[in-house]
Amino acid sequence: MMPTPPTPGPEVLAQAAEVETHLRQILETAGGWLGFDAFMHEALYAPGLGYYAAGSRKLAAPTDAAGSSDFITAPELSPWFGHTLAGPVADILHASGSPEVLEIGAGTGALAASLIPALRTAGLEVRYAILEVSADLRQRQQERLAGLGANIEWRDTLPDDFAGCVVANEVLDAMPVRLFRWSPEGTVLERGVAWHDGWQWQDRPADAGFAAQVRERMPPLPGYVSEINLQAEGWIQGLGRWLRRGGALFIDYGFPRHEYYHPQRLAGTLMCHFRHTANDNPLWLPGVQDITAHVDFTAMADAALAGSLEVLGYTSQAAFLLDAGLLQHLDAWRAQAPADYLRELDRVQKLVSEAEMGELFKVLAVGRGIDTPRGFGRDRSHTL
Ligand SMILES: C[S@@+](CC[C@H](N)C(=O)[O-])C[C@H]1O[C@@H](n2cnc3c(N)ncnc32)[C@H](O)[C@@H]1O
Repeated sequence: MMPTPPTPGPEVLAQAAEVETHLRQILETAGGWLGFDAFMHEALYAPGLGYYAAGSRKLAAPTDAAGSSDFITAPELSPWFGHTLAGPVADILHASGSPEVLEIGAGTGALAASLIPALRTAGLEVRYAILEVSADLRQRQQERLAGLGANIEWRDTLPDDFAGCVVANEVLDAMPVRLFRWSPEGTVLERGVAWHDGWQWQDRPADAGFAAQVRERMPPLPGYVSEINLQAEGWIQGLGRWLRRGGALFIDYGFPRHEYYHPQRLAGTLMCHFRHTANDNPLWLPGVQDITAHVDFTAMADAALAGSLEVLGYTSQAAFLLDAGLLQHLDAWRAQAPADYLRELDRVQKLVSEAEMGELFKVLAVGRGIDTPRGFGRDRSHTL
């Protein structure tokens, strides 16, 4: 059973009320039914209101005040995530003959804060660009990274032409998903939301295109509810138009398709986070809690192939970090900071432990014109 989320305070409830008004206006304009992808988009990204767009502290380092944030990501947990990622990133930069790194969805800037110095130590002075949809987070990134003395620019749009390395940690899971439900008769319904004294699920027959997308992924299973991340698929396929030479590393929680649409995963993978508790009800206080869905990595690899990119590697986060030299890096640092070593070891353990992030999180590398970077010695592409 999931723990009950903490009771939100008056400030949070006031923000929730504003988001509710906004969402109900959107719903009315849409005629009383809103596809879940539109609902999730507004709840997370409505300018000045959505979860990622309004000014609360969503992401935090482990040292931040307890209870003030909602979840913690790998680069927030330990700088050794970024230090280790620097190896595969350097391989991609060398192979592409370019010093350009493009980070998508940089959160508080934690990954850039560890990755850029590690690349510098490896002799690579990179040009680092960040594409961030949240104005609030962009400002936090600018404040955090100002002291690095690095060449960093913030972009509003994707490049038309790019050679180098793209990185995205926990971004695909934050892209809005469409929901479906198999009816008792074996037809596909699209699940959306309506308002009747509160937010409620409402299913309607899926359009032919969406129904076909669902049928491609799994056989009929009456009552089964799940999701498809068409935005993330479109994003990765689109990468094929602008990535001339180089690679992209996507790190996120998820599975290959046969596990994703497993008959026992009856209710899909939607998950919400509020103050370090997880719940499975995205209709609870939209705008105040994070909403995510796990990633179907088979769909992401198919999208890369559809964009004429190659799948360079796919493995678990634990295998990736260990094969990319995490423990050797940590060991080399031990003599310099023996007092901090044990604390870091504890955090690094969370990154690689099977019971924490090591197995659920995966790394997918796609690219064009380069070899597979380090980190994929235990490649699992054949499972996709
Ligand atoms: C879960 S947070 C992860 C933040 C950071 N990468 C980390 O690991 O700490 C998701 C981030 O992706 C951003 N984001 C979501 N969709 C995006 C998109 N389509 N383009 C750029 N950024 C996006 C969010 O605003 C947020 O910064």
